[in-house]
Amino acid sequence: MTLILNRENVISVLDMKDCMDVVEKAFKELANGTAVLPLRTPITPPDGLSLYMPAYLKEMKALACKVVTVYKNNPKKFNMPVVIGKVLLQDPETGDVNCIMDGGYLTAVRTGAVSGVATKYLARKDKNQVAGIFGTGVQAQMQLWAVAIARELSKAIVYDISDESADAFIKEMSKKLNLEIVKAKNPDEVLVADIICTATSSATPIFDGKKVKKGTHINGIGSHTPNARELDSEIIMRSRFIGDSKEACFSEAGDIILPVKEGVIDESHFYGELGDVIIGKVESRLNDEEITIFKSNGLAIQDVATAKLIYDKAIESNTGVNIEI
Ligand SMILES: NC(=O)c1ccc[n+]([C@@H]2O[C@H](COP(=O)([O-])OP(=O)(O)OC[C@H]3O[C@@H](n4cnc5c(N)ncnc54)[C@H](O)[C@@H]3O)[C@@H](O)[C@H]2O)c1
Repeated sequence: MTLILNRENVISVLDMKDCMDVVEKAFKELANGTAVLPLRTPITPPDGLSLYMPAYLKEMKALACKVVTVYKNNPKKFNMPVVIGKVLLQDPETGDVNCIMDGGYLTAVRTGAVSGVATKYLARKDKNQVAGIFGTGVQAQMQLWAVAIARELSKAIVYDISDESADAFIKEMSKKLNLEIVKAKNPDEVLVADIICTATSSATPIFDGKKVKKGTHINGIGSHTPNARELDSEIIMRSRFIGDSKEACFSEAGDIILPVKEGVIDESHFYGELGDVIIGKVESRLNDEEITIFKSNGLAIQDVATAKLIYDKAIESNTGVNIEI
């Protein structure tokens, strides 16, 4: 039998705190060598992009592949979303696909979760910190949710080029997190924050890196092609740079590829991977003055760990529909 979980089923069983716990374990496995993580495979049919993201986590007994497509004409031509994702979870003992689940909400939560884990390990430890969020789409929501779990926040400041989107974000998230959220009039107003998340669709730097205060931690999750970046060279130069994966950062992240190309840093500026920080192989923040950056490209180990969590919770709560294929 194969369990089918739609978006509502996934939402009903998936919680950010649980997701942060399994994503942290997945990064430990990556650092300890018990994870298998091939680079994502892209195929480009005429109308779009199809990405295949497989991974295996030995300790967690989790094996899966996410299929994500980006078809720009979908809304106009077919009244369907641009980005569609589904995950096929397999039984590692038999290889059989035992669950097919929607991947949209899963992707958002696992992307928040990794920033939550990075914040736990890299941000200053003091209480009553201020979160600053650039972008107010679904990813931005998940960033704030995860950061609010990792650190005690006194308030959040958000900035989006769309006022409407920022207002909707504030309405929804202040209620969900019971947190004061204020709208910034410009990017500079966000830079008083202690923990900054960049979750925009911008391909060019979104704030002036010279103005970031000492001791800030930044989670950069938006741009993910070699020529696009949300972070300028100045902030990269001023920071201790940690990535989810060195290989992914140097093949996908303009945030570090472009400053290397400009010659303002060399590749040794990449300080380490998040998994190595978690297992203590690489040092975390050295002091309260340092600026730390975590660059997230999004790894299949996050999807696989989260898919296994969702499946286990769904079985526990009798959620979803079983079908014979
Ligand atoms: N790292 C990962 O694993 C991962 C996973 C999923 C998505 N993403 C990326 O996260 C980003 C956000 O995704 P989303 O689904 O929330 O997108 P979205 O389009 O719903 O939201 C993006 C928001 O950014 C705003 N924006 C654009 N330029 C801006 C600027 N200069 N300053 C402030 N706000 C600006 C837009 O107005 C919009 O509200 C995308 O780039 C997406 O590709 C990363």
